[in-house]
Amino acid sequence: MVIPPPDIRPGRKPGQPAGPVLLFRLITRQLFGSRLRQNPAEFMLSAAQQYGDLVRYRVGNHTIFLLCHPQLIADFFGKDTPSHHRNLVMQRSRDVLGTGLLTSEEPLHMRQRRLAGPAFLRNRIAGYGDVIADKTLAQISKWQSGTVVEMHAQMMELALRIVSKCLFDLDEFDDLHAMESAVGSFMAFLPLAFLPFSRIVQASPLPSMRKLRKGQRYLDELIYRLIAERRADPTDRGDLLSMLLNATDDGSAGSAQSGEHTTATAQQGSGSTPGTVQTMSDQQLRDECVTVILAGHETTANALTFAVHLLAQHGDVQQRLHDEAVRVLGPTRAPTAADYPALSYSTQVFAETMRLYPPVWITGRLVAETYQIAGYTIPKGASLMAPQYAVHRDPRWWPDPDLFDPERFTEAAKATRPRNSYFPFGGGSRQCIAEGLAWMEGTLCLAIIARDWRLSPAPNTPAQPNLDPAISLRPKGGLSVRVDHR
Ligand code: HEM
Repeated sequence: MVIPPPDIRPGRKPGQPAGPVLLFRLITRQLFGSRLRQNPAEFMLSAAQQYGDLVRYRVGNHTIFLLCHPQLIADFFGKDTPSHHRNLVMQRSRDVLGTGLLTSEEPLHMRQRRLAGPAFLRNRIAGYGDVIADKTLAQISKWQSGTVVEMHAQMMELALRIVSKCLFDLDEFDDLHAMESAVGSFMAFLPLAFLPFSRIVQASPLPSMRKLRKGQRYLDELIYRLIAERRADPTDRGDLLSMLLNATDDGSAGSAQSGEHTTATAQQGSGSTPGTVQTMSDQQLRDECVTVILAGHETTANALTFAVHLLAQHGDVQQRLHDEAVRVLGPTRAPTAADYPALSYSTQVFAETMRLYPPVWITGRLVAETYQIAGYTIPKGASLMAPQYAVHRDPRWWPDPDLFDPERFTEAAKATRPRNSYFPFGGGSRQCIAEGLAWMEGTLCLAIIARDWRLSPAPNTPAQPNLDPAISLRPKGGLSVRVDHR
């Protein structure tokens, strides 16, 4: 495929790409626009169509650049270290998340990435295949044939059970609802973190903030208790916490991370002095555990929810997935990680779902040092955004972009598209550390569900789900599907 170059349209001022003053446009849209109900993800999609591949917004004194061409996105990811800081939401989220992988800056981030990396390598995550299968079979065994099930709640619970088992070897919590509520209150806080007065809101007696503080106390007590137990008996339990506790870093690049999920940029730099062996403090371990729970829970749950919805809407795709699952797994056997490579159609379905509904719908950074992209100056302090939602629906790479078609993800079809026309797991030094685990989780869960259940649209559920693009892209108000036992 010949890749068309970025379509960059000049703005009114020389040396600037095209783009609107965002506040003015938002206000006029609200007053006069026909797109009153357009959500931010769709807003970005229409901005790219209207202004091209490099769009410049102004919001008061702040400048935001939107990058919508794979080549520009490759430049953006390539410059991640040292040219970017975490975006404002991530910076302000440190109040509740601490300084884990998602929120930390360099050089701490690189050091943590080296320490945590081995926990996500292929040989280590293979053990989680059984966890995924067990938890999925247990979750779907609760469904009643011939009923309508609200899938988002189901998948949130499933993903929480999977991540808790993989991270802490926890099967039954003292109280699953306390865990759900703690994680939910964290997620609800993150969009608020964007507000300039978020600290005041956080300290206020508002019920949602009291719930947040209660959630924080619950998670802290649970995690610190588990850490103390493991320090007393450091036997490797095969979970992520054991790996994180026993991880050491001697400061030499690649010392604790040298496998297939290592990104090139993650090897650069070091937060520790060569020659001194470092491990994580309890506080750092707590921050990484909270980060993994949050990063690994809702993203996967959202992708699975949309996938089940799409399967219910597309009987032909569902039948093909069912046939593959029966062929590979037989009628009743629980899958293992060894089955994952043979479930290629199931992986294609998961991939196509994340094209249409990327759980992380936009990737943002703050510019730490002025640099150039495509000949334009991106000044220090500006925000840069690469919107997965818009790029994944660009007809230059995705003909008939709104059509759900897992055939787009055969090996042959993938080879025809430019890198970064699809990036559900981000890129650069911040690329999802658990991408391998997430692919296996999505694939095995979908194969089990499609083998054992027939899915069909629930009455009054629109084919195009309403979207709620908060920190992650969720279905607004949940998504219901009718389930019948096969
Ligand atoms: C379908 C599921 C998932 C998707 C779509 C996804 C997507 C992403 C994306 C786009 C990023 C980069 C964010 C950025 O550039 O700022 C990221 C980072 C991260 N993800 Fe995932 N993720 C998924 C599942 C998971 C799971 C299961 C875990 C853990 C068990 C996890 C842990 C993390 C962590 C720790 C980071 C921070 C990495 C760093 O900054 O070095 N993710 N994820």
